[in-house]
Amino acid sequence: MANLKPPLPRALRPKPKGPSENNGHGRVKAGPKEKLAEKGISTIDWIDERTSLSGGARWMMFRKIPKGTNWFYTLGSATLFAFLSQAVTGVILAMYYDPSATRAYESVRYITNEVFLGEFVRGMHKWGSTVMVILVFLHMGRTFFYGAYKYPRELNWVIGVVLLILTLFMSFTGYLLPFDQRSFWATTVGVAINGTGPLVGPYLNDFLRAGPEFGVTTLARFYALHMLVLPGAIAAMIGAHLYLVARLGTTAPPWMKAEIPAASRKDDA
Ligand code: HEM
Repeated sequence: MANLKPPLPRALRPKPKGPSENNGHGRVKAGPKEKLAEKGISTIDWIDERTSLSGGARWMMFRKIPKGTNWFYTLGSATLFAFLSQAVTGVILAMYYDPSATRAYESVRYITNEVFLGEFVRGMHKWGSTVMVILVFLHMGRTFFYGAYKYPRELNWVIGVVLLILTLFMSFTGYLLPFDQRSFWATTVGVAINGTGPLVGPYLNDFLRAGPEFGVTTLARFYALHMLVLPGAIAAMIGAHLYLVARLGTTAPPWMKAEIPAASRKDDA
């Protein structure tokens, strides 16, 4: 039967549905995300329009690398991954750990025996610390043997040395936290060894002991250093380290010869 209704004026006619509103059955309701996607705008675009972060991210991540770059160049990133893994597992452990001299040991026992996957997370954190120390040394060896400490990367080498010291201090301060017989006596010896250092030794000893006797105050001090001061300093130093890596680029392996374009060779002749 013919449609007897008069046609609506153009301004009152409903707009045709976009693909996200109509899946052929006319049932899909478009959310704000789908509507933006239809116009070619992604979540990343939305954030970038407001922050302009993509320029910095592109500067940091998409760069040319020298010929001859090999697997040994991944040791720095592997160390970074180890640090991030330590940060995540450390936060989980901190949810259950109690840094008081009378309850620390019991809280670690509780994490190991009672908490769901507690032994696994504690194991990851404990072995992860050893892995991180090994990786820092391997990465340092790579940069040394490839001559990456030379001009213009001397400052990055110095930052690296600070990172190495901070990483070793992380292991040292973390070792006391279970507060069992082994960690107590090993750290007592460690702090005493620090005291034998020239000039700063005795001050460092007093600072670490945090009181006349090695004990309750020492645990609180080690906990604060291990949880707050050292990870914060390491994160800041890694930021500076990576900024310089992005700014200066990585070193080519020492056995790679610079390729002189044929045209400039001819000019020299
Ligand atoms: C937490 C510890 C550290 C992290 C997370 C870290 C991370 C990185 C990363 C990701 C790179 C770029 C990729 C690569 O060359 O491997 C790098 C480069 C570099 N790192 Fe480290 N690093 C650490 C410790 C050290 C140490 C202990 C040293 C030396 C004392 C050092 C010296 C350097 C140098 C000189 C470069 C430039 C390499 C080049 O130009 O070829 N880093 N680091």
